[in-house]
Amino acid sequence: MMYSLLFLLLSCLMKLVLCFTSLAVIVPQDPVLTMGSSLTATCIIKPKVNVDSRELYWTLNDERLPSELYTLVNSSALKVTLHGLNGSQQLSGDNLLCHRVDGRILGGSCLYVGLPPEKPTNISCWSKNAKDLTCKWSPGGKGESFLHTKYTLKYRLRWYGKVNECQGTAVLNSCCIPKDLALFTPYEIWVEASNKLGSAASDIISLDILDVVTTDAPFDVQVNRVGDLEDQLSVRWSSPTALKDFLFQAKYQIRYRVEDSTEWKVVDDIGNQTLCRLAGLRPGTVYFVQVRCNPVGIYGSRKAGIWSEWSVPTAASTPRNERSSSTCYQKSGESGSNLRRELKQFFGWVKKHAYGCTALNIKLYDQWRVWLQKSHKARNQNQEVAVFVGLQQDSPGR
Ligand SMILES: *[C@@H]1O[C@H](CO)[C@@H](O)[C@H](O)[C@H]1NC(C)=O
Ligand SMILES: *[C@@H]1O[C@H](CO)[C@@H](O)[C@H](O)[C@H]1NC(C)=O
Ligand SMILES: *[C@@H]1O[C@H](CO)[C@@H](O)[C@H](O)[C@H]1NC(C)=O
Ligand SMILES: *[C@@H]1O[C@H](CO)[C@@H](O)[C@H](O)[C@H]1NC(C)=O
Repeated sequence: MMYSLLFLLLSCLMKLVLCFTSLAVIVPQDPVLTMGSSLTATCIIKPKVNVDSRELYWTLNDERLPSELYTLVNSSALKVTLHGLNGSQQLSGDNLLCHRVDGRILGGSCLYVGLPPEKPTNISCWSKNAKDLTCKWSPGGKGESFLHTKYTLKYRLRWYGKVNECQGTAVLNSCCIPKDLALFTPYEIWVEASNKLGSAASDIISLDILDVVTTDAPFDVQVNRVGDLEDQLSVRWSSPTALKDFLFQAKYQIRYRVEDSTEWKVVDDIGNQTLCRLAGLRPGTVYFVQVRCNPVGIYGSRKAGIWSEWSVPTAASTPRNERSSSTCYQKSGESGSNLRRELKQFFGWVKKHAYGCTALNIKLYDQWRVWLQKSHKARNQNQEVAVFVGLQQDSPGR
């Protein structure tokens, strides 16, 4: 950042210096060119300057251009011809300079090389709590990125005609309309792109603010152990405060992953509750948990809104199973997968009889867990005898 600022400053200063002391003029000055096109530039030494054009050489962005590209015009003018121009290396233009044999710069010109903009695409919009409207888009072509290309988000109410421009600064191909939005009339929205080579407009999209509402992420997410149950964690959170101000309801999703994995598991049948229990987890394992919120029933609308961002991750660990000391790792892994298999059966059964993280569901599950742990204890003890006999070795966990 500092570097590029400095660079900008330097190139401006250089231009000033060139203006006052240049000993030659370059024609054309600061041309705007299409990528792939050719340019012939002439360095014309000013009268009374005692330099012969045969002594001159050219550089483009500090790289010396080979003399095959030069054409001598007369004793005070030298041409250079460039074919197949590439896009500008920087938005402030490429530096084409004419030098005297000792390296001194006699004159310079900035080349702006790019392409006219293409139709912006991929416009998508969302409204935070039905208060504002932010839209983002994708630039239509790569060639326009070599030049300063201005994108303007324009919008109007469908039946009233007056075109407005999004006044927010269009950062990273997005723009936010902060206020004065109508909630019950569709908007027409499009993006116009323009640079020195031309302009283009996107297709027009039409949307209702109420169809694109999103909200803040849930906050104060707490993840806690459920007593000694080594395969469970309880998650609770606070709903976004904006929900209380508006006629929304919310539905939630949780996602969680083990510490050393990037794969998230999503729980999406939570409905509008602000607490849920995760089950079938690995004992003694750190989990990261996030929650997000989707506003539904906005002013009576039947459509769901747009999912919020995920909350910042909260970490918690399941209790370590006393029985899974290192020598028994293999065995506990096995019983873990048995457990998962049985859990799957249990949830399969529950799905048919209940929905979401209902109290009934958890209560039933607890009862089922107690039964399961009892029956497992019996089975594990049998297995342990076999392991113990096989290894002739004991461990503190037993
Ligand atoms: C040399 O050529 C340039 C460019 O065509 C022209 O402007 C200039 O007057 C010429 N100078 C002489 C001395 O002929
Ligand atoms: C364009 O880029 C290519 C590859 O970097 C280079 O070989 C070529 O000389 C460049 N063309 C011009 C006119 O600078
Ligand atoms: C459109 O937007 C989506 C989401 O931002 C992005 O993944 C995709 O690459 C974009 N498509 C184009 C053509 O730019
Ligand atoms: C949750 O949803 C139920 C059923 O849709 C509804 O009756 C209840 O009021 C909702 N609770 C909250 C806090 O939104």
